[in-house]
Amino acid sequence: MDLIEAIKTTGACRYFRPDPVPDDVLELLFDAARFGPQGGNRQPVRYIVVRDPALKKQLAEWYLPYWNRIVDMAARGEYRGSARLLSDGTQMANHFGEIPVLVVVCAVLGDLARTDAELDRPGIVGGASVYPSVQNLMLAARNEGLGTTLTTLLCAAEPQVKELLGIPPELITCATIALGYPERPLPTKLSRAPVTAMVFSDRYGAPLFPPETAMT
Ligand SMILES: Cc1cc2nc3c(=O)[nH]c(=O)nc-3n(C[C@H](O)[C@H](O)[C@H](O)COP(=O)(O)O)c2cc1C
Repeated sequence: MDLIEAIKTTGACRYFRPDPVPDDVLELLFDAARFGPQGGNRQPVRYIVVRDPALKKQLAEWYLPYWNRIVDMAARGEYRGSARLLSDGTQMANHFGEIPVLVVVCAVLGDLARTDAELDRPGIVGGASVYPSVQNLMLAARNEGLGTTLTTLLCAAEPQVKELLGIPPELITCATIALGYPERPLPTKLSRAPVTAMVFSDRYGAPLFPPETAMT
């Protein structure tokens, strides 16, 4: 499929058919993922493809309370999320163990290029060696007619997840990708802010593009 069309339509898919994803299709996705950029090209990312129903059930049990906490926060006005995000997210959380494939994304912590580690704020650069590969995987999935959702809630349960899946101590967990054939048509248009709201010329706040060129 056209690259730009894939980029613009790889939205969160939270309804999946139970059909398995063949191994040769999975291999295409990981083949695309490995071409993501990584600091120093150190290749820190590892993936665990979880399909065992017992393992998925356990991950689902850990995921649900974290999701319910988001729903509670949203009800108190402490979490910003659309009604669609909350209702679709709740249905996925309630059926997390039935998602055909859960890809647990890990990274070798010592191989992440963390150039902001000494700043007096939470680091973000370490993730930049991981998430471009994750996006590649999700785009390749889109190209194969598969749906995905990037989730991170299980990272809060990292010690248990590592023990369950036998992840060595030197690795950290970075995300869990829900993956499968979509039960509903994939979106044709995602809701995103216009480029005019986020792109500046030379100085922060000076628009590069006039509002009338806004790509909506
Ligand atoms: C860092 C990050 C963490 C996310 N965590 C979750 C999650 O735990 N559960 C979930 O259902 N969706 C999660 N999402 C998916 C977002 O809700 C989704 O990308 C966003 O609402 C945009 O959806 P759309 O692409 O369908 O418009 C996460 C996305 C990102 C980038």
